[in-house]
Amino acid sequence: MNMMLSTWSFSEPILNAVATNLGDSASALDLVETCARMAEADESIDSVGYGGYPDAEGRCTLDAAVMLSPNQSGAVCAIERHKHPVSIARLVMEQTSHTLLAGPLADAFADAHGLESSDLLARPSKEKWLKWKEEHQPTETLAPYDTGTGKLFGNHDTIGTLAIDTHGTMAGACSTSGMAWKVPGRVGDSPIIGHGLYVDPKRGAATATGHGELISGICSSFLVVEL
Ligand code: GLY
Repeated sequence: MNMMLSTWSFSEPILNAVATNLGDSASALDLVETCARMAEADESIDSVGYGGYPDAEGRCTLDAAVMLSPNQSGAVCAIERHKHPVSIARLVMEQTSHTLLAGPLADAFADAHGLESSDLLARPSKEKWLKWKEEHQPTETLAPYDTGTGKLFGNHDTIGTLAIDTHGTMAGACSTSGMAWKVPGRVGDSPIIGHGLYVDPKRGAATATGHGELISGICSSFLVVEL
């Protein structure tokens, strides 16, 4: 029987749907990619994929990674024109000898592989950003917390999914629109192998969700697995 774990309550219906629809013959990689794709397509999830909150200038950018082992991983960051960064990350892993592609050239890579281009900023997210912009200066995004209230300025609820298939193969995937209202160009932990995601077939797998700068500071996923 397959086993899957995923972050946040929004993953629960996704895990149930993927378990029902893909069944026990699916590979671990297909399971985790499908979970991330479902979250990316869900406009009501405002921290992943289409519908994610944008940066301080109203630009929605996406990061994602997939991993099977230290020799088999792929990631993309700052995707601006494709709804499914997790599938671009998988293409990086399977079709190139590289690990990470970034920005407009990563979008161009997705175009070249026939992935459909689309607008990422959903209307509710644009409206939230316009409201945020009325009350804040873009430079405020330099601090993740409001020092007065201690509240976070934005969300960063990455979907991270780990699976073991019936052959005992482990895989992981994560996908995020990053921190809401981030400084344009900011990339968090999710597309950095060992930070937001790590899979070591001999030892285990981990994925992270939360404040990317804190996660990256201690290479969290790598550290957890190897410890
Ligand atoms: N954990 C996602 C991010 O901070 O970008």
